[in-house]
Amino acid sequence: MEEFIKSVCVEDLNNAQNTMFTVFRTLDTASVSTLVPKAEMIHNTFLLNKSYEFIAQNLSLLAVLKYKTDKNNYKIAINMLEDARFLAENSHNKNAIKTNLFCWGYIYNAEKNYSMALNTLKQARNINSSNEIINAKVSNLIVQIEKLNIANQDTQEHGGVEKPIVALLNVARTLAAETSLEHLLKTVAEEIKKVLDADRCTVFLLDRQKNELVSKVALGMGTQELRFPADKGLAGYAAQMGEIINIKDAYKDERFNPDIDKETGYKTKTILCMPIWNMKHEILGVFQVLNKNNDAVFTKEDEDILIAIGSSAGIAIENAKLFESQQMMIDQQKELFKNFVDTLAASIDARDKITAGHSNRVKMYSELICEVMNLDEKTTANIIHAAILHDIGKIGIRDAVLQKDGKLTDDEYKHIQEHVKITYDILNRVYISEEFKEVAEIASSHHEKYDGTGYFRKLKGEEIPLGGRVLAVSDVFDAITSKRHYRDKMPIKNALDIIKSGAWKHFDGDIVDAFFKIKLDRLVDVFLSEVDSVLYNQKDRETLDKYDVSYLFNLLTNESENYSDSDRALIELFNTYYNCKAGK
Ligand SMILES: [Fe+2]
Ligand SMILES: [Fe+2]
Repeated sequence: MEEFIKSVCVEDLNNAQNTMFTVFRTLDTASVSTLVPKAEMIHNTFLLNKSYEFIAQNLSLLAVLKYKTDKNNYKIAINMLEDARFLAENSHNKNAIKTNLFCWGYIYNAEKNYSMALNTLKQARNINSSNEIINAKVSNLIVQIEKLNIANQDTQEHGGVEKPIVALLNVARTLAAETSLEHLLKTVAEEIKKVLDADRCTVFLLDRQKNELVSKVALGMGTQELRFPADKGLAGYAAQMGEIINIKDAYKDERFNPDIDKETGYKTKTILCMPIWNMKHEILGVFQVLNKNNDAVFTKEDEDILIAIGSSAGIAIENAKLFESQQMMIDQQKELFKNFVDTLAASIDARDKITAGHSNRVKMYSELICEVMNLDEKTTANIIHAAILHDIGKIGIRDAVLQKDGKLTDDEYKHIQEHVKITYDILNRVYISEEFKEVAEIASSHHEKYDGTGYFRKLKGEEIPLGGRVLAVSDVFDAITSKRHYRDKMPIKNALDIIKSGAWKHFDGDIVDAFFKIKLDRLVDVFLSEVDSVLYNQKDRETLDKYDVSYLFNLLTNESENYSDSDRALIELFNTYYNCKAGK
């Protein structure tokens, strides 16, 4: 009975998540009166399951729906969003935090508070989330608001030039929210162009290694990149001398380099150039503002405004550059971690030739289960890393026991069991980035059993991390279908029998179901993964692709006299490859 309730609950949780995603997807297309009952209904399921990250997401969603139902609900909606923010932040779940920020942005936008909306949505954009629906919603809303802003600014321009203080505030706001160097440069250039009433503003950054000035932003010229020696032209002169240059007639000034005009077909008339400094007063690049509108010239006031914008922009550019190089370091760390995982996995295999390839096959089976269960990218990545490392603790087991021929004594069996605790201790001590912090937990729960009789922590049911429950099925299936020191591998029917009858006792029944939905051709991929001598015939692959494990199992449990010719051929074909599996 308890199992039944559990299975209903798990199923409900999946349904609830799907319903919530549907509500998000159709937020602007479906009517509020159909969406509200859906979101309210699934709320209880999340509460029952204590899934705080989903409670937070759904509460954020409910706040938006409440507001959409009646704008007078603004205060209630804001209170709900506050609660949701608390839950999201405490669950440390990026999807929940991003969803919450999106919903804040959504309401700010509806309230026509565009600057707050943009700020919040840009914060949301900086959060890496696996939820494609929210990612798309955030980006779309940013584009929508920015378009609206440009339209507003166009009307503003008809009425005159933007006030310097507004430009400064706009730049300051962007500087606070922007960590992408490209976006930052684009916005700063746009603001300068507007406030100085100029035709064009280019931001050149100094490439110290090549001693070149590089423009990442060239408004009005598309996104082409301009590069020239750092001592050439007016921008070069400003960079070298560290001073502001205000030119009333470019072609009459010998410092002006007309080459770029020749290249681009542009006619430069007036120029205002200013170096950009960082806090240490080192030059980072140059602002180059071209052609004051209406054939006017740049004034002393224009110079002052540019100085005011430039001093804070310099710091922000430096920050964005740091942020980008930090991002590169994180990528490098991830690469290092991946190499580390591969090296460790290889050392496990080297230890025990007869089980060589086991970790890799457990990884492959687990990957197939994740695929059938449609798990998200991050969860799958954690499970895959844990699969490769699950038996790393065998490093601490004596050779005499690990490679013993014949049955183990009770003491030896206990000693072997210690490998899971050792796996846990090793992985917990190794620095693993935030993204992979679940790896240790998952890897060390592969011998836990759903009914609580496993080891080493005797976890039960959903106390066992989802990844641990996936690994349990993959690990046992590979063990019984591989030759061991003391026995041959099992006929496939018996192996599948063990997995099937272990549902809701040894294994999570849902994961067993997923395993039985794996297509036979994919299973054969795993069998042949360590075997170079066997060719996987394309026609065989196509035949096996038509059937899943469950189909094969049903055939095998039938009386063989009832087999049709094609059934018999399928069993024979599958067994041909099964017999080739490494560790025969
Ligand atoms: Fe193990
Ligand atoms: Fe294992």
